[in-house]
Amino acid sequence: MSVETIGRKVQAHFHADAQRFDAIYEEEKSAFARFVDNVWRGVVKRRLDLALQVLDPLAGKTVIDVGCGSGRYCFAYAEKGAKRVLGVDFAEGMIDLANQHNRKLALTAQCEFRTGAFPAAAGGEKFDASTAMGFFDYIADPVYIISEMRKVTRETMVMSFPKRWEWRIPIRRLRFLKSGCPLFLYTEKSIRKIMAEAGVTRYELINFDRDYVVVAHLK
Ligand SMILES: C[S@@+](CC[C@H](N)C(=O)[O-])C[C@H]1O[C@@H](n2cnc3c(N)ncnc32)[C@H](O)[C@@H]1O
Repeated sequence: MSVETIGRKVQAHFHADAQRFDAIYEEEKSAFARFVDNVWRGVVKRRLDLALQVLDPLAGKTVIDVGCGSGRYCFAYAEKGAKRVLGVDFAEGMIDLANQHNRKLALTAQCEFRTGAFPAAAGGEKFDASTAMGFFDYIADPVYIISEMRKVTRETMVMSFPKRWEWRIPIRRLRFLKSGCPLFLYTEKSIRKIMAEAGVTRYELINFDRDYVVVAHLK
């Protein structure tokens, strides 16, 4: 399957799945739904706390969130004082939700959302930090994307990669196979190879739940 075909499948999946994905961040749900979300998708919320910890302090900073989904990371960055946050995602359903939340939270002075594929949608602007969380799960060419993230980042990049060997993987694989959405998995070794090929030399690789998280320092 070509990179373009993979991209189209991922885009269609997240356009259709935007509401369900965003609901992971909502507190108001049944005890059963909370339990299922916590076991299967709890990492989605815990990754956000980790990103905030790693990027602290955010006051006065500029950040790009690649594959921003419904914008939850962007709002958290703005609430921590980031002066400009750009969220980019090629799934229109996700960006529609992000814009709705943005108006409700009154963060439009700090947060902007663009529908489009990274890197083109970033428009060549530079940022202090970049994040791509829950994103490389769906990326066929991570070396290219990380090289492009480097070009638009001055200080820090934070990226998550789902583990290949993890007890939840067989069911996750089945779920994605059924939905027709491609899924990419990583080992510590494959991540280190990708970082080397993308020219990222100074980084920490954190073993984080179902993922590995890479914090790269460019300065
Ligand atoms: C699982 S969601 C994660 C959203 C958000 N980062 C979060 O954790 O809440 C992955 C997102 O990446 C987006 N995506 C995947 N490949 C992309 C690309 N090449 N350019 C822009 N967005 C992309 C998908 O549309 C999807 O909304």
